[in-house]
Amino acid sequence: MSTDRRRQVYDRAIRKEFSFLKSTDSIAHLHAHSIVIADGDGLLVPLCELHADDAELIATLSEWRRENSRAFPTQFPVTVEGTRRWLRAGVLGVEDRLLFLVCDRHGRPVGHLGFANALAGDCQIEIDNVVRGDKEAQPALMSAAMQALVAWGEEMFGPREIHLRVFEDNEHAVTFYERLGFDVAATHPLDGSAKPVWAWLRSNDAHVMLARASDPVVPDQQGVLFYLYVPDVAGFRQRVVDAGIAAGEIQYPFYCRRGEFEVTDPDGYVAMVAHT
Ligand SMILES: CC(C)(COP(=O)(O)OP(=O)(O)OC[C@H]1O[C@@H](n2cnc3c(N)ncnc32)[C@H](O)[C@@H]1OP(=O)(O)O)[C@@H](O)C(=O)NCCC(=O)NCCS
Repeated sequence: MSTDRRRQVYDRAIRKEFSFLKSTDSIAHLHAHSIVIADGDGLLVPLCELHADDAELIATLSEWRRENSRAFPTQFPVTVEGTRRWLRAGVLGVEDRLLFLVCDRHGRPVGHLGFANALAGDCQIEIDNVVRGDKEAQPALMSAAMQALVAWGEEMFGPREIHLRVFEDNEHAVTFYERLGFDVAATHPLDGSAKPVWAWLRSNDAHVMLARASDPVVPDQQGVLFYLYVPDVAGFRQRVVDAGIAAGEIQYPFYCRRGEFEVTDPDGYVAMVAHT
């Protein structure tokens, strides 16, 4: 299937399935639309129209947001009314976002997680809003919920990538994701901080992650080499040269039969561009 066609099929599936699940407005349908976690350890219940006027649940979501605010990039006074608006406009009203309540084996909500920005990239989905609200209930349920979510997402949409963002100092969450097999990438400055501690640059299939240097940058003491992998080395070099950036000639060492070349970034670091 061509890349464009694959993208069309993926985008359509996201729009259709997310909107279908979020439109659920009866408890009977809600049970049918839920995803079983492991062998009945619990359920992933889509946050949907039925919840938009569920005052008790909205108060619970509000409480969880307040208690876990340190895990989020934005900080603000959390109110029940604000959470109600967020649920309507920020979740149900956003076509490429879908959250699930994580319910324990008795059906009680324990936390939530979901997908966001599913149409923002090229068949890429971001894991969103992973929070355990009830810290005591059913140990390991959040891990099982995450596995169920990722398995469902892969089966339904066949994305090229499922990724997540987490503050690098959120050690518990980082360990949680690593145990689940994610290569974790941290991101964002906290509110009030001027500089980002981390940035993720993304261009289609290329992902470049930059961390703020802990020491001054000294070009002639670099101890690392950066490699960028591209499918068309000559074409990429031409684009680099056309953009006015100095690029070395393409070399063909034994470990890179299809070519590589050097570019030097504004800090003096050498990056090698090689064939994928
Ligand atoms: C991230 C977060 C959702 C992880 O939740 P969690 O409760 O640690 O995850 P689980 O439900 O999978 O429970 C894991 C615990 O169960 C334990 N466990 C795993 N398998 C188990 C099993 N079969 N039996 C008993 N315990 C088990 C794990 O060892 C772990 O215990 P530990 O924390 O003492 O190491 C939670 O810490 C949270 O809500 N944090 C605040 C919000 C946040 O930071 N979110 C991430 C933003 S990106």
